Amino acid sequence: MKFYFRLIFIAFLFASCHKKEKNTTSSELVMYQPSEMASLMNTMYYMNADIKKKILNNENIGSFPERYLTIHTAKLTDNNDRTSDFEKFSLKYIDNMKLLYKENPQNQKSNFNKAVQSCIACHQTSCRGPISRIKKLLIK
Ligand code: HEC
Repeated sequence: MKFYFRLIFIAFLFASCHKKEKNTTSSELVMYQPSEMASLMNTMYYMNADIKKKILNNENIGSFPERYLTIHTAKLTDNNDRTSDFEKFSLKYIDNMKLLYKENPQNQKSNFNKAVQSCIACHQTSCRGPISRIKKLLIK
């Protein structure tokens, strides 16, 4: 049983940014709570996977999800990660996302990719772990 927990935990670490810092015991494992930011990120991941499908199927993508704006306030696992660079990248990201919802559908593919590129741009400076997963969101 313990072995499987370990496997799941290792898989989790692979997808997150704080790989090397943690030396975890099983009790910490059970106690683990993702930060507000990590939960937001996972939500954004799944919402964008859904948007990608809608774009590919020519479906309406709805309106800009206001909860994305909580990127400016959500608590990070490590509060020191909210640097001035982080703020800059998050503003750029939000701008690009808003453009995707504002502009006409002809530009959706390229605007979507631009928004996803701004996820990646931030991750290249602050959290490299999930980059290969995020790249899968790009529309080819
Ligand atoms: C402004 C910088 C920034 C932007 C933009 C950004 N991220 Fe993140 N992302 C982070 C940071 C920092 C973390 C670590 C959060 C933490 O551990 O509290 C993170 C964590 C994650 C995680 C791992 C969550 C976990 O369970 O640990 C995923 C997946 C992720 N981001 C996907 C995305 C996707 C998809 C987008 C765009 C739709 C995106 N990110 C945009 C900085 C960013």
